[in-house]
Amino acid sequence: MPKDTSYTSLQPDARGYFPYAAEDDAVWRELFTRQMAFLPGKVAPEYLDGVRKLRLSADKTPQVKDIDARLQKLTGAGAYGVPAIIPPSQFYDLLSKRTFPVATFLRRREHMDYIEEPDLFHEVFGHCPMLTNTAYADFIEGFGQRAKALGKGYSWHMFRLFWFTVEFGMIRSAEGLRAYGAGIVSSPSEAEHATDGTAVMQDFDLLTVFRTPYRIDIVQPTYFVIDSFDQLAATLDADFGALIDQAKASGDLPALFESKQAV
Ligand SMILES: [Fe+2]
Repeated sequence: MPKDTSYTSLQPDARGYFPYAAEDDAVWRELFTRQMAFLPGKVAPEYLDGVRKLRLSADKTPQVKDIDARLQKLTGAGAYGVPAIIPPSQFYDLLSKRTFPVATFLRRREHMDYIEEPDLFHEVFGHCPMLTNTAYADFIEGFGQRAKALGKGYSWHMFRLFWFTVEFGMIRSAEGLRAYGAGIVSSPSEAEHATDGTAVMQDFDLLTVFRTPYRIDIVQPTYFVIDSFDQLAATLDADFGALIDQAKASGDLPALFESKQAV
């Protein structure tokens, strides 16, 4: 959680459940209902399958413990409640165990449209449905294992791969381009932007991804498009370390945005 945040992390009760208030349920209901109405035709069918398989609904703020149990049964993946933003080492370690770290606080009404730090809606609605897909969960686990093994010197570039897939990935479907990245599916403005034909779409290529800078505070000027989740899982056969060394030697590609805060 950023230092200047006005949110505090929640503590679970003895059974591992978080104390969401009636106002949290109302915020969840509004976010869920609005986004589910907006997403058809914009997101991957695998994502919408995942929403159904996890039994997410407008009725109640979901509990990470329940999501975790459903994921375990479906693909052996998991979800683990964390205060908010966690150190990269802990983040990669959880992923390497096929487990997704989930911030458990829910945004307030004044942040319905945009919140800087990832909250429960971004994590559960955005990330967890895709973990019901085996090839995607394989990618998450393998990505975490490789990021952990490569260590700090490669972390920056590994996060670019995470950014352009898990957060802002697009996929080709029979009906056209669809989103699967959590930063798109959990945000009305990003979902609109990613599917309105104005952004630059690039075929997914590992070396290009490792050389592409991004900014976290704007809608993305470019997205990388995969053909299938099997393609994503198959990237794990590549030598990430050697490719990142090559990306470092070649340097970054020109940014498609103003240079402020590029990472
Ligand atoms: Fe995220």
